[in-house]
Amino acid sequence: MKYEIKCSVCHKTARDLFSVKCPSCGKPLDVDLHFDFKDTDTGKDTYSMWRYRQFFPYIEPDDVISLGEGWTPLVQFSDRVHFKLESLNPTGSFKDRGSAVLVSALHRLVKEKKGFISEDSSGNAGASVAAYAARAGLKAKIYVPESVSGPKFNQIQSYGAEIVKVAGSRSRVAEEAQRPEAGKIYVGHILHPLFRDGIRSLSYEIAEQCKWEVPNYVFLPVSAGTLLLGVISGFKHLMNSNAIRAMPTVVACQTAQVSPLYHLFKNLDYTPPKVVTSIADALVSVNPPILELMHEQLKSARGDAVMVEEDETREAYKELARKGFFLEPSSAVAYASYKKQVKSGEVSSDARVLVILTGTGLKTTLKP
Ligand SMILES: Cc1ncc(COP(=O)(O)O)c(C=O)c1O
Ligand SMILES: [Zn+2]
Repeated sequence: MKYEIKCSVCHKTARDLFSVKCPSCGKPLDVDLHFDFKDTDTGKDTYSMWRYRQFFPYIEPDDVISLGEGWTPLVQFSDRVHFKLESLNPTGSFKDRGSAVLVSALHRLVKEKKGFISEDSSGNAGASVAAYAARAGLKAKIYVPESVSGPKFNQIQSYGAEIVKVAGSRSRVAEEAQRPEAGKIYVGHILHPLFRDGIRSLSYEIAEQCKWEVPNYVFLPVSAGTLLLGVISGFKHLMNSNAIRAMPTVVACQTAQVSPLYHLFKNLDYTPPKVVTSIADALVSVNPPILELMHEQLKSARGDAVMVEEDETREAYKELARKGFFLEPSSAVAYASYKKQVKSGEVSSDARVLVILTGTGLKTTLKP
């Protein structure tokens, strides 16, 4: 057996590829890999995340649904800092890695059931799942908060998905997406283990593009935690396979308004605001369903957490754009966090750093 999908708490095996939580205790599921990462098993002629297809054994070769995701540029920004431009994925964010894996694994099964997929999202994941559903010829119903930004809303609609706007909190959006309906198959990216697992490809790419000498630190923004968990899982797999010599310190970056992981990690109380008004409008999970798993994984990976204020995010967003990198404010949170850690001395100025820039600035409604 090459892999198992198991409960992250009681280790019970999932019923099938559609499972979004443990059939026994309801906790999140994880993909357990029973093979090593071997550079010789990568498809050296494939310049997309499917270069690593062998490491996603639950997808049949003929089932791959691709828009050319992955193998995104690794750009040197300064002496010691590199950026990974995940904003250059087909729908403009890192989410495409998760959607490509999710839809590739499930589209045949969904068609056999004559069903359609449902997803809840603050915008980017919805756009991404809608695009891959379109490519696979599947119907998608995407549930979004009322506040979803214009460009993301337009993007989801353009791919032909049905959109349902839901009033109230982010958790309400998830509830609606999961409400039973004839033919509906809920594949919500936050809970579904295969979406998170697709993000693992990002760590393989970072390691390979850095010629297997991974940076000392990897800064990334965190909301629901799929990026964080996928990246940690990829680096752990590389470590366990002796493909890299050291684990980078993965730094979870959050805004002051939306920072449940930061507070838990630092043993501090967290009171979420009634309404999230941050310009980092993709980072809205004040009560993420997989918070415990994020906390446990960040600790076991010896990672760290940072929180930035609104003016620090705004400053970082502007600075990035003035240097030619037009990103979503949510991506600027990771760069702002890096700057904060250097300023405080937490990260030495000679450390090798990689910042994951997650989403394109073309999706923002902010005026310059
Ligand atoms: C641009 C961008 N960056 C970062 C994140 C955070 O990712 P996650 O929700 O997996 O923590 C998101 C999530 O929506 C996003 O859209
Ligand atoms: Zn369980």
